[in-house]
Amino acid sequence: MDKEVPTGENQGMEQGCIIYVFSGTGNTMMVAEEYRKALGIRTEIVSIMKDFQVLPSPDGYSLVGIGYPVHAFNTPLIVHKFASWLKEKDGKDLFIFHTGGEGLKLNDSSAKGIRKILKGKFRILSERHYVMPYNMIFRHSDKMVKHMVTYMKALVHIHAKAIMDGIEEKAHPMPIRILISAILRIEWIYANIQGKYMKANDSCNGCSLCARMCPMGNIKMVNGKPVFGTECILCVRYSFSCPRNAISIGLLEGWKVNGPYHFRAIMADDSIPDTIAIKDLPVLYRPYYRRAIRLLSR
Ligand SMILES: Cc1cc2nc3c(=O)[nH]c(=O)nc-3n(C[C@H](O)[C@H](O)[C@H](O)COP(=O)(O)O)c2cc1C
Repeated sequence: MDKEVPTGENQGMEQGCIIYVFSGTGNTMMVAEEYRKALGIRTEIVSIMKDFQVLPSPDGYSLVGIGYPVHAFNTPLIVHKFASWLKEKDGKDLFIFHTGGEGLKLNDSSAKGIRKILKGKFRILSERHYVMPYNMIFRHSDKMVKHMVTYMKALVHIHAKAIMDGIEEKAHPMPIRILISAILRIEWIYANIQGKYMKANDSCNGCSLCARMCPMGNIKMVNGKPVFGTECILCVRYSFSCPRNAISIGLLEGWKVNGPYHFRAIMADDSIPDTIAIKDLPVLYRPYYRRAIRLLSR
């Protein structure tokens, strides 16, 4: 990333930030909350839902944030549509952040599409990736969860300072990564047909939590059981949060993670170390945390 001197275009406007966040299972929301603490200005956090019309506009805020979980190395479709819908805001400052279960550089090409859409409307300051526990593929250990959250919080504070200083950092994802992300947008189409393969098994007690939580209104209760439509965006809230682990997610069943991470308890547990040494981390995670340590020790 190249650094550029801030233009200070928004100087003089009353300071305030609005963060639009889509979060399937709470990780990205947790990062947004950390930004609220770190930015040190009035910050409103708004959940991106199906009906964009009801969301507050960025008018009256000097800074805009957009946060989302990376899905198949892409922005979830709802966030892509939201970026297209967001009105022109005269080059107002905007920052992007995303979370993912690992720190592969491929995750950094996930925002290519929305950057293109937003470029003409806002001045994009930066784009950051935070490693947070997988809500799909496999469940992370408590030790790894504490490590991830500890680093996320430290990094957000550094990144928030750069944002408040108006530092613009250009992203240059490699073309091959952009191509892979583009191909994997097939996930958007798959997500829609995923509903066909989802069903509740006999342990479902008809509590309707999944239907009440679905951000797309894609789950209806029929005869006391959830029935899934064709507007799924694979937020996986339904299967992740089901108290009976009763929802089968079809072709992705082998990757299902059920049950929340108990962040508060994990962070308060003194028997769990705050961080893990690089050499003890799974190989896949080492480059991301090496970069994080370099940044934090500057
Ligand atoms: C359908 C789907 C696809 C995912 N793809 C990726 C991925 O490409 N890269 C990654 O690092 N994590 C991936 N993940 C993991 C989530 O991005 C990660 O757990 C994220 O922090 C969840 O955030 P949320 O709780 O705000 O939804 C995927 C999760 C789902 C449900």
